[in-house]
Amino acid sequence: MKKITAKDLRNMWTDFFKKRGHAVISSASLIPENDPTVLFTTAGMHPLVPYLLGEPHPAGKRLCDCQKCVRTGDIDEVGDESHCTFFEMLGNWSLGDYFKDEMVKWSYEFLTSREYLGIDPDRLAVTVFAGDADCKRDEKTAKLWQECGIKKENIFYLPKKHNWWGPAGLTGPCGSDTEMFVDTGKPKCGENCSPACDCGKYLEIWNDVFMEFNKTADGKYEPLSQRNVDTGMGLERALMVFQGKKSVYETDLFAPIIGCIEKLSDKKYASGGETARAMRIVADHVRTSTFILGDERGVTPSNVDQGYVLRRLLRRAVRFAANLDIKGGDLSRIAAAVVENYKEVYPELKDNENKIEGEINTEVERFEKTLQGGIREFEKLSKYLVGTVVSGKAAFKLYDTYGFPIEMTVELAKEHGFTVNIADFEKAFEEHRQKSHAGAEQKFKGGLADNTETVARLHTATHLMHRALKEVLNDENANQKGSNITAERLRFDFSFPRPMTQEEIKAVEDKVNEAIKADAEIVCEEMSVEDAKKKGAVGLFSAKYGEKVKVYTMGKYSTEICGGPHANRTGELGHFRIVKEQSSSAGVRRIKAVLE
Ligand code: ALA
Repeated sequence: MKKITAKDLRNMWTDFFKKRGHAVISSASLIPENDPTVLFTTAGMHPLVPYLLGEPHPAGKRLCDCQKCVRTGDIDEVGDESHCTFFEMLGNWSLGDYFKDEMVKWSYEFLTSREYLGIDPDRLAVTVFAGDADCKRDEKTAKLWQECGIKKENIFYLPKKHNWWGPAGLTGPCGSDTEMFVDTGKPKCGENCSPACDCGKYLEIWNDVFMEFNKTADGKYEPLSQRNVDTGMGLERALMVFQGKKSVYETDLFAPIIGCIEKLSDKKYASGGETARAMRIVADHVRTSTFILGDERGVTPSNVDQGYVLRRLLRRAVRFAANLDIKGGDLSRIAAAVVENYKEVYPELKDNENKIEGEINTEVERFEKTLQGGIREFEKLSKYLVGTVVSGKAAFKLYDTYGFPIEMTVELAKEHGFTVNIADFEKAFEEHRQKSHAGAEQKFKGGLADNTETVARLHTATHLMHRALKEVLNDENANQKGSNITAERLRFDFSFPRPMTQEEIKAVEDKVNEAIKADAEIVCEEMSVEDAKKKGAVGLFSAKYGEKVKVYTMGKYSTEICGGPHANRTGELGHFRIVKEQSSSAGVRRIKAVLE
């Protein structure tokens, strides 16, 4: 197999699809906009949901990109060879254009041709959907693979559990898929060995989803108005395979970061065991935190939503760094190594470098203080103990509330002549994990797709309010940091250093209601990102030079870069009212508002 770097693979990908009529689009922010179902962008398709559901995309019907993603559902698995909480996903899309014939042929070409990956076809295995009541058996895709040159015995039919893809929010565009694997040459683990088992013989490299359905909130599969293709190749895992490494942490995406950790700890990754595990956890968590903090819509540590995930990642990193004799204060140096390794592809990291390092240092200091509080709590706790056993529940409270590692509780208990009921601790931990696992990314229920009109109106109100905030607060930097809309309310985070006064809140409401009363027409235009800037549009300018964007103008009341959807006229909105204004995280305020 060809040895390729991360840079080679990203370039090969866009080159291949550009030659096949695809527009290269920029990675969207890690923080989804207007999507109430998830906290982070979890797949390349995620920012494209409106287009998969039928809205025209300004760049056309064939797209490709490399998207930043965060998934924290498996955070406890990080430390093994392949789990990461941040990853890049290479993807290409057909929005109601080509379907199975082209996609299977292109996948085969990209994987096997010498110009691209040059994998020996006999080392490839593929899976296709076995069929059920919702969708028929995918003989068509199997036949296409065979025609390309995949041996019949390397094509496996698998059920929904393996060969079906839907977004993390559970509702939305979905369909059967075909997955591609590299056969490592290891002997079969048994008679039924297949890509479905995780014995390590087959390593997944790519997934092509044939999206034909929209899964509704009541669990039904409705046919989509158009048939789409959505594919994803996880950069980290693919590179591990193509670079012949045993772990993603040994690829060039991580090598300099691990190198920095080795230097700070004066330990060697190659010594394996707990040392390598701790190094992987620190590398992963600091890398993800760096991307969250450095994002165009970057959030800061807090006790809710994305800020909480970030806090958890950083605190976990501090604990594992301590096992490596690395001081918490040195985490920001590891973040600097992440920025250095990624700054060419993600310039926003370099732009936000000071913020990233500053926030990490502040959070580490805060955590160290919390740990002190936890120790005091422990002292109190031990006084109330009857007998010599710290209950599992108490140990879990220390873990959950104070971020106390169980190892530390055990040590402290020992100093006091106590033991800890580990079995009960693990039970409480497992219960908690089950609960949080299910909800890690699917934090909010609700349906953007099911309530398009209501949601579109709230979305329009969000734009009007964004403009009104800048005017009333007399601060052009009162910028959107996040937006989350359900059928009931809008929620909007923006940068501002202090609470708003009652008068300011009232003035913002009045301005928005004035815009509603004016019944301005809402116009959507497509233009280059430069023209949007000239027009004075607000929004994220992360798109590349020359890339087309949509700009929504609402009379004189708002001009923003945005993907939609929106109401047709501001007059459709009804009466706007702010129900809450509160702090979201340092320097960020949060508003909840409704339309009545
Ligand atoms: N959306 C598909 C995935 O994430 C391609 O695997």
